[in-house]
Amino acid sequence: MNVLVVGRGGREHSIIMKLSESTMVDKLFAAPGNAGMESLATIVPIEETDSAKLIEFAKLNQIELTIIGPENPLMDGISNNFMAEGLRVFAPSKEAALIEGSKSFAKEFMMKYQIPTAGYETFSDPVAAKQYVDKKGAPIVIKADGLAAGKGVVVAETKEIAFEAIDDMLVSKSFSDAGATVVVEEFLVGKEFSLMAFVNGENVYPMIPARDHKRALDNDEGPNTGGMGAYAPVSDITKEMVDFATREILQKAAIGMAAEGRSFTGILYAGLIMTDVGPKVIEFNARFGDPETQVVLPLLKNDLLQVMLDVLDGEDPKLEWENEFCMGVVLASVGYPAAYNKGIKLPNLNANGDSFVVYAGVNKSENGYVSNGGRVLLVGAKGCSLDLAGRLLYGNLPPNEGLDGFFYRTDIGKTKKGALG
Ligand code: AMP
Ligand code: GLY
Repeated sequence: MNVLVVGRGGREHSIIMKLSESTMVDKLFAAPGNAGMESLATIVPIEETDSAKLIEFAKLNQIELTIIGPENPLMDGISNNFMAEGLRVFAPSKEAALIEGSKSFAKEFMMKYQIPTAGYETFSDPVAAKQYVDKKGAPIVIKADGLAAGKGVVVAETKEIAFEAIDDMLVSKSFSDAGATVVVEEFLVGKEFSLMAFVNGENVYPMIPARDHKRALDNDEGPNTGGMGAYAPVSDITKEMVDFATREILQKAAIGMAAEGRSFTGILYAGLIMTDVGPKVIEFNARFGDPETQVVLPLLKNDLLQVMLDVLDGEDPKLEWENEFCMGVVLASVGYPAAYNKGIKLPNLNANGDSFVVYAGVNKSENGYVSNGGRVLLVGAKGCSLDLAGRLLYGNLPPNEGLDGFFYRTDIGKTKKGALG
């Protein structure tokens, strides 16, 4: 089969790496892809959101399955457009993707189907929003309703910070339409984890739990980012907790979405906090997580293409996982998540067979790879323990001090106090 992967980041490179192991894959294409994918896939210069051109390409190149990585094309209805042309696509419709595209929809939906999540209210009037914050007190969480590339969430430690965030979204319109409505949410305490599942209608096949490190700097300091590293599975999240989250969150969501006429097909991602009274939803995403995918897929024993085809056909893909740990750390451009320079030559990584490299923001120049984004690449490793995976991957990175224009976190897989897990 010829397969097209839409997207350009590490998540998509990771999907391509896994697909390239499949004996069923004939040709692999990535649109728009990145230069680091070239050894495994043909790079197609079509933007993620240009469904008309992607459809034309899929028809001309006998693409039998298209996999959509990022969220933006989903909200535009890329999956609807492919299906309308009779093309197979592994991605939710725009109606189903609303579970990620609108936080107020997601919250209302969770209330209706009794899916555990933080208490909240929705506002478009800044005065009413502030009155609510005044009543509830801090810490409290302010979220822009729509897609904001991970930047639309403010965990406010004080009321003043919450007021500022409300003004920023509702008055200054920093996120334009995406911030025209805000969700003001109860602050939850507990360890975070991400649980992704292959979903088709009411059928849910969970993956192993993963943990993303979202802050830019060691000890969870610095601003929130798209994710600076991740590991899987997560030892402090027991099988019972995963089973509970699968049943009470993912399964209920799949059934609820079907009942709402928004039947979900694709990857459903639950961002969760393990509170004293069980896991609660922070957010749903309608796609693979980045960088969670880069540490989860390497542990999948199955052929990923077969899994996706089974799921689309309504069959149990019978997922099997390696009894190992996988960890990955992101090499980012200095300045990320704010402004950064591009075009800087990548450092030499001593990739020695024990680790792997997943490319994201890279380009090719005469002198080899250069940076082309905030998150440049991820170095990952597998091991029979988290500790071993960590030692293998960090062994392949030069020290931060020796890097020119790049940085990475040195504490992936560790808690704030430095303990593993
Ligand atoms: P999000 O962009 O929705 O993934 O949120 C970014 C981060 O904000 C999450 O990873 C959490 O650390 C934090 N966060 C979001 N909602 C809450 C909440 N209700 N309580 C505590 N932390 C939260
Ligand atoms: N790693 C979080 C996300 O993909 O949204």
